[in-house]
Amino acid sequence: MSISTDAALAASAFQDVFGAAPSGVWSAPGRVNLIGEHTDYNEGFVLPFAIDRAAAVAIRRRDDNDDHTARLCSSYGDQQIVTVDLAALTQETMSGWSAYPLGVVWVMRQMGIDIGGFDLYLHSTVPSGAGLSSSAAIECAVATAFNDLESAGLTLNELVLVGQRAENEVVGAPTGILDQSASLLSTSGHAVFLDCRTQESKLVPLDLSTAGLLILVIDTNVSHAHATGGYSDRRASCELGAEVLGVRSLRDVAASELPETAGLLDEETFRRVRHIVTENQRVLDTVEALDQGGPTTIGDLLTASHLSMRDDFEISCPELDLAVESALMNGALGARMTGGGFGGSAIALIQISEENAVREAVVSAFAKAGYTAPDIFAVSPAAGACRIL
Ligand code: GLA
Repeated sequence: MSISTDAALAASAFQDVFGAAPSGVWSAPGRVNLIGEHTDYNEGFVLPFAIDRAAAVAIRRRDDNDDHTARLCSSYGDQQIVTVDLAALTQETMSGWSAYPLGVVWVMRQMGIDIGGFDLYLHSTVPSGAGLSSSAAIECAVATAFNDLESAGLTLNELVLVGQRAENEVVGAPTGILDQSASLLSTSGHAVFLDCRTQESKLVPLDLSTAGLLILVIDTNVSHAHATGGYSDRRASCELGAEVLGVRSLRDVAASELPETAGLLDEETFRRVRHIVTENQRVLDTVEALDQGGPTTIGDLLTASHLSMRDDFEISCPELDLAVESALMNGALGARMTGGGFGGSAIALIQISEENAVREAVVSAFAKAGYTAPDIFAVSPAAGACRIL
């Protein structure tokens, strides 16, 4: 379904729930990270693109400025209305799906943007827990909406940081800027090459169809959450590695310096560091390969990234490994898990003509292993957040 159809759905659901038309509808996409995993919070490089699945928020501001009541409803929450007093909002009182939109509103109010009462309806087609940034899509749609509605004048890079703060301080996930940057900075037909230290970005053409290619997302349906568990452990290992090596962040370690770091770090921390350092180099190599030879030339880099995450960073899982292996064995040019790991989705770069063969091979490999059937769909690089209606 198209982004504008989803926006129309959000507007009509808003009308049904709140009995009036919204002031507008804003949409922000989920993302696939082509390469560059866990490099963002190490001030390194990433290369994501927005996908054609998005969160749409329909919003109407209350006319009375003194009224700080917010009412929120979504297709996630069984159409139950969540009602809060914005003036009394604290990090502790936000929970469930509404913590994402309210987290953004809370951050913007903390920044002095005087958001008053409003009604909001959220409709999203980004599957949650699939590693496709369903939460960043909500955050970026809401941040874009209130930036417009309040004429706050925040730049896209500032909106990225608003979404990240909501994620870090309200949801409690110690994540970087990858997801929000992809959702806000993307343009159709391109990937976003982002330097996470400076927030400088460059759009890199990613014309898959002209090369006869497509990217399949294989959602393993193994759900993950980054507010708990492995994600923050990995982040802590990276911080430890940087501290022992005496650098501000692992961004400052070159691949050529890895051999001499081996003796300074314990074995596990060394492997964590090696993933980050080699992954940064793979992002740079992928950008160069896209520029020189186009998307047919990046397959091996994608697969090398997966092996590094599986063996050195240890954030894959059997279902993701099987998705990658079965895609590769059936003609994929490259494949890797995408996103934070511990579940979620893999991507496979394949010839358009091989789509059915790869789909069938992955589905049957999952059935044979006794795993829940994966959801498989093609994605193409889409536009970033904007007002739709
Ligand atoms: C999640 C986080 C991002 C990034 C990726 C891993 O998606 O939200 O900030 O760290 O994991 O690359």
